[in-house]
This record gives sequence, C-alpha cells and structure tokens, in this order.
Amino acid sequence: MKRKGGQKEKLKVGVLVSGNGSNLQAIIDAIERGEISNAEIAIVLSDNPEAFALERAKKHGIPAEVIKREDYPDKAAHNLALAASLKKHGVKLVCLAGYMRIVSAELLNQFPNSVMNIHPALLPSFPGLHAQKQAFEHGVKISGCTVHFADPQVDAGPIIIQAAVPVHSGDTEKTLADRILVEEHKCYPLAIKWFAEGRLSVVGRNVVLEGGEPEHFAVRNP
Ligand code: GAR
Repeated sequence: MKRKGGQKEKLKVGVLVSGNGSNLQAIIDAIERGEISNAEIAIVLSDNPEAFALERAKKHGIPAEVIKREDYPDKAAHNLALAASLKKHGVKLVCLAGYMRIVSAELLNQFPNSVMNIHPALLPSFPGLHAQKQAFEHGVKISGCTVHFADPQVDAGPIIIQAAVPVHSGDTEKTLADRILVEEHKCYPLAIKWFAEGRLSVVGRNVVLEGGEPEHFAVRNP
C-alpha cells in the first residue's frame, strides 16, 4: 500500500458500533499514542443513534454516521448500505466493536478476510449474545476475550488473538465483564496493528502472524 513518492498510505479502518464504544476508544487511544502508526479510523458507523460511541468519535474529530436497520427493507439492504459507506470512505479493514447485529454476506463478501470482531469470551465457548453471562452461569474458572476474522457463521471465524482472565469466587457477571473488557482494550488494538503491518494471513482456520511466535497470540492472566 504505497502512495506516489514512496510514502506509505495509512490503512483506513471502519469501526461499527452499537453502544458505549469503549473498544472504539481503546483503538482511538492506541492510534493517538502512536502504538498503531500506520492506520487511521476513516469512519465510525452505528445502527443506534443513541450510541455513546458516536460522541467519542465526534470528540476525536472522526467522521461518524448512523445507518439504522429500520430505514431498510431487510438485513441485506442494511448491510449493503453499511458496505457502501465503508467503501466510500476508502475502508480496507472493518472492525466490529460492540456492534450488536450479525453482519451478513452482503458486507462480508466486499471485505474478504478484512472484517474483525471482538467477542467477550474464549471462543468457541459461549458464542452469541451475553457471552459473559453465559460463562458466569456455566461456572467456568477462566474466561476471556477473542478477536477473530468474521465469517458468515456467528463468532466462528479464524482467531487472531485471545486473552484469558480468572473467574474469582466473589465475582458477579458485571465484575467478570469488566475484567474481560480490560483485556479487550489491549487485544483489539494489537490485532489492528498486526493487520495494518500486513503481518496477518489466514491459512485454513489458522491465523499466522509473520515474524511472531505462537505466544504473541495469547495474553495469559490467571
Ligand atoms: C464488548 O464487551 C464486546 O466484546 C461485546 O460488547 C461489548 C461492547 O463494549 N460484543 C459482543 O458481545 C458482540 N456480540 P463497548 O461498546 O464498550 O466496546
């Protein structure tokens, strides 16, 4: 990815959100601190006009748009509208960051191996909604988060990085979710940095990190 004159062009990232946007904030902060030097957020898209994530984008001068599901006849049309906006902003990497809808083939096909998702559990355990609650109620002793490439199956694509956290005896669903979130905020920027550096490749189900060791893919906290 080079501009005329040999200067490297920054990877344009599109972030899809629905709510608070603390993961969006972690990505913004990592970029602003220079930890991800070769990427920029080109657009933040929300399906929810009330999402606090929109305020976060505004505060940092990042373009943001609301694309509501209700404004489209079906899921496919909504996904086509999201994809059209992402393309219009030159996006090459799409990051689902607390985006609470399933992204369909209409979008995924336009960004092959270039849509990432963050999930608040150690996949393939506890896919779907309320993963922290599922893990807590199941009584696991270790949980965590997963950043993976999205594919047409929900929370099932190739895993880029995971971090584990302990479940303590006094935990509630909320204290566990908060502990997981701390790790999410480390993992997502790292995955984006690797992608922007062109170091990630997908080989079958396996994500390979060029110049990396297997332990770079896991943050172990217990
Ligand atoms: C995060 O815990 C994220 O992993 C989860 O929603 C939260 C969003 O927080 N995502 C999902 O459950 C997706 N199925 P944030 O808006 O503060 O980033």
